[in-house]
Amino acid sequence: MSPDESQHLSETGPGTAMGELLRRFWVPALLSNELAVGGAPVRVRLFSENLVAFRTSEGMVGLFGENCAHRGASMYYGQNGKGGLRCWYHGWKYDVDGNCLETPNEPNDSLQKRVRQKAYPCVEKNGAVWTYMGPRDSMPPMPDLEWLKVEENQVFVSKRMQQCHWTQGMEGDLDPRHLAFLHAGTIDDTAEHAGHASADWLKQDLTPILEAVVKPAGLMFAARRNADANSYFWRVGQWMMPFFTTIPAFPGAGPLAGHAWVPADDGRATVFTFNWHPTRALSADELAMMRSGTAMHAALIPGTFTPLCNKGNDYAGPDAPPAPQPWMRIKRFQDQDICITESIGPEFSRSEENLGSSDAVIGRVRATLIGAARALREGREPPGRDPSEYRMRPISVQLPRSTTAWADEIADAVDTRPETFRASV
Ligand code: FES
Ligand SMILES: [Fe+2]
Repeated sequence: MSPDESQHLSETGPGTAMGELLRRFWVPALLSNELAVGGAPVRVRLFSENLVAFRTSEGMVGLFGENCAHRGASMYYGQNGKGGLRCWYHGWKYDVDGNCLETPNEPNDSLQKRVRQKAYPCVEKNGAVWTYMGPRDSMPPMPDLEWLKVEENQVFVSKRMQQCHWTQGMEGDLDPRHLAFLHAGTIDDTAEHAGHASADWLKQDLTPILEAVVKPAGLMFAARRNADANSYFWRVGQWMMPFFTTIPAFPGAGPLAGHAWVPADDGRATVFTFNWHPTRALSADELAMMRSGTAMHAALIPGTFTPLCNKGNDYAGPDAPPAPQPWMRIKRFQDQDICITESIGPEFSRSEENLGSSDAVIGRVRATLIGAARALREGREPPGRDPSEYRMRPISVQLPRSTTAWADEIADAVDTRPETFRASV
């Protein structure tokens, strides 16, 4: 990748090519449970913009630019309550749509009628507040991601901050071959994989064949590993514009998983991790495991969205016993992924990379993003405008070695109708 392309991919702010592309999509901004009714406003950093979220006394959610439209005081210190958020400095009050309701330090309402607070539309669904930050006349409907379409008791969502560029985090999901290296020592210890034949297939085949099929909103990609003499093991996931991923399903008929790699700015990502089940409520045991910060979810420092295992403690956490080498102390899947993707660091340029066949999916996704950002500059709207293009779910299957049309074999199972959900191997 040229330095110029790398720069293109990196920028998230308003007016940048990639920043404008990102602003063409509905994205999760924060968790619903961060906002108490009539309670404290919450700072949100999104696409290099400082925002303030709040929930009025009536339960309406607002997401403002941080600075008051009068003279720029931070709305984080605003007085939240009935009907909207009032700036503490001179008392100007705005509703969730940014309409100015009061300018009490002015003798008449002429300013009030004219002024608007920067406000982004919010939709709350299944545990997260989603927003759209692009031009209103280009606003698509919310995507039909399966975790948005099922009942609320079928979904669990967590949020954490990651100290690296959003693509560096996301590319871990698009890189099936790292499993047998980064997670080699952990696969047998994770509840989802332990005891399944596929755990051995994952560890033993170091060079799975990677394939990808172009879909309207992104890619469906697969890693084909050797299973037994007559069959291959296919793990299939999706990437959907601009940063939604699904994780190839764990063995069994349990919950599925996906990520939204939301850029906070050019150097940090807010990572939303979704677990959902297509046909039933999540069980108490499953929820307890998700809340405890294992598997796909990171344990957090209480009161923050910072993972407990972070750069400050070499990603090993305060209780990890000493070991001869740093990597030996990082025992959980998610901590391993966070460690290694953050370790790339902000200074490392993509132009210094040496990409191989294992990076094929990553290359396709980067090219798609850059192509879409350039096309948007030329006035062409990006893919992923039609919500139905997001109706895809992951699966892991065993198919006869003679099967070549793998995508056709699983076409029904990856379509997000409840009746087509089937167990993975
Ligand atoms: S700066 Fe907000 S009311 Fe004056
Ligand atoms: Fe990983």
